[in-house]
Amino acid sequence: MGPKDAAPILLEGLQRLEYRGYDSAGVVVSNKGLKMRKVKGRVADLAAAVPARFKGTLGIGHTRWATHGAPSDVNAHPHLSTDERIAVVHNGIIENADELRAKLEADGVVFLSETDTEVLAHLIARTVGETDSLEEAVRLALKRIVGTYGIAVIDAQRPGEVVVARNGSPIVLGIGEKEMFAASDVAALVRYTRQVVHLEDGELAVLKADGFHTFASDARETAKEPLTVDWEAGHYDTGGYEHYLLKEISEQPDTVARTLRGRLDDRFHIAHLGGLNMDARETRSFRRVKIIGCGSAYYSGQIGAQLIEELARIPADAEPASEFRYRSPVVEPDTLYVAISQSGETYDTLAAVQELKRKGGRVLGIVNTVGSAIARECDGGVYLHAGPEVSVASTKAFTSTAVAFALLALHLGRVRDLSPADGRRICEGLRRLPGQIKEILALEPQIKELARKYADSPSMMFVGRVRGYPVAREGAQKLKEISYVHAEAYPASELKHGPLALIGPEMPTVAIVPDDELLDKNLTTLGEIRARGGRVLMVGHRTADPKLADDCVVVPRNETELDPILLSIPLQLLAYHAAVALERDVDKPRNLAKSVTVE
Ligand code: G6P
Repeated sequence: MGPKDAAPILLEGLQRLEYRGYDSAGVVVSNKGLKMRKVKGRVADLAAAVPARFKGTLGIGHTRWATHGAPSDVNAHPHLSTDERIAVVHNGIIENADELRAKLEADGVVFLSETDTEVLAHLIARTVGETDSLEEAVRLALKRIVGTYGIAVIDAQRPGEVVVARNGSPIVLGIGEKEMFAASDVAALVRYTRQVVHLEDGELAVLKADGFHTFASDARETAKEPLTVDWEAGHYDTGGYEHYLLKEISEQPDTVARTLRGRLDDRFHIAHLGGLNMDARETRSFRRVKIIGCGSAYYSGQIGAQLIEELARIPADAEPASEFRYRSPVVEPDTLYVAISQSGETYDTLAAVQELKRKGGRVLGIVNTVGSAIARECDGGVYLHAGPEVSVASTKAFTSTAVAFALLALHLGRVRDLSPADGRRICEGLRRLPGQIKEILALEPQIKELARKYADSPSMMFVGRVRGYPVAREGAQKLKEISYVHAEAYPASELKHGPLALIGPEMPTVAIVPDDELLDKNLTTLGEIRARGGRVLMVGHRTADPKLADDCVVVPRNETELDPILLSIPLQLLAYHAAVALERDVDKPRNLAKSVTVE
């Protein structure tokens, strides 16, 4: 809200947020009553439906990823109260929506949509008359809600204010010159301001053109210091690339260099990670490392676990945060917990971190988004500095996370028993990564051809052994996510224990075959696949005998421990070009959202 018309700002902001969800969208502006447009489809469809005379300097908008109710015009947000006085947009899930809806219906309220959110609009409308204060009405309505939310609410009778609230779903305020903004992600704000304030869970805020105040669910005022964000609006453009995904893949020499910058010490061959907030004694005290994250973050965590075991010799393993939080894990004081998240807002990961903290666990975050919920919740951590990742499928955040783990493993290793010589070897290897990534990106024409050749397979197998296995899993994940080709990842060693039955000409295998101590074993597996008529695309450090592989992508070698980082990159390009060949919506694959801030 401010002096300008709200609708163009809302539409532009929604476009920036579209990667969070894109099945329907809507806006409402306040100008002598509420004016609303909402449509099933993309933000571009909404923009086309908004008439030129959609005037009003205050408004709210939403782009949706369906949880309750199918994507449709009526289920799109905003949702209005029956008297059209209150409008609400909501991220999250209201768990007791059915119960509240039944009560409201018994009182004669007629619902227009199937969403859980509409309950909120009616609840607020009922109290706003009595309290004569929108903030109080929202606060009281939220007391009746069980679940998660990031909401924005406006009242037709108060055209100068917006009330926002957060519990589990992000809300960030943007402070402008005589104008105020709020969004679920800074991505929507950076065009207008760099001064932001993140709300905490349970916090609410009232925004007016000339300022804001924040308060807790018991109405007590809270004090907030604005933070300056260094991501620029230009980071959110495709920069001449056809897709964000290709842009983000191509940025990796720079993003990896940024993750490393200022963190390698050539004198003592250690890593400087000031954000860990741990002294050497504490760093030495851990007997185990447990890593949690979702999706690609989890797979990069598997690479991280291997790095920590190899370099620091501490038992380490990774687990999906979404599973971890539901299985009543034993939280041990001598275990170091590491949570990974590009967005820093994935609800499953955040909930797992909160559970760990409740039980006294020591949690570090490996996070890309500065000031995000997971970063704030952790005791310390490592920021990736990879810049905003817009495409739904993660690429540069994945590699930067693996690099951050190499730094963490070096740090943990050098205060234990990693020798200075090995420390130097890893430092030098890390410095070589950006140049070697450039060499791999130069293989794009060859990988594009291979993608075209293999893209029409109904299904693909990805295999790798030990260090290569997480690489295979992430490669399969990328292909599934963006090309919709079924892909399965298996440890190469397990193939003969079951999935070999699937192998035949219709199911090609992508095999990750680094030149490490397992090379011979991997080559034997390739022979077994070929003997069953399977086609093989090998990604490794040398070309193989044509009897063992139909095609080979040869990447530069680094130190054995760091090779998984480089071996992942051809698989990103393979998935990208397969998706392009199949004419998929590369940056916004169906059914997915970039950060899943609901359970
Ligand atoms: C979603 C996205 C994935 C991503 C995962 C974790 O499922 O579709 O691409 O890997 O969330 O996201 P995070 O922001 O926590 O790394």
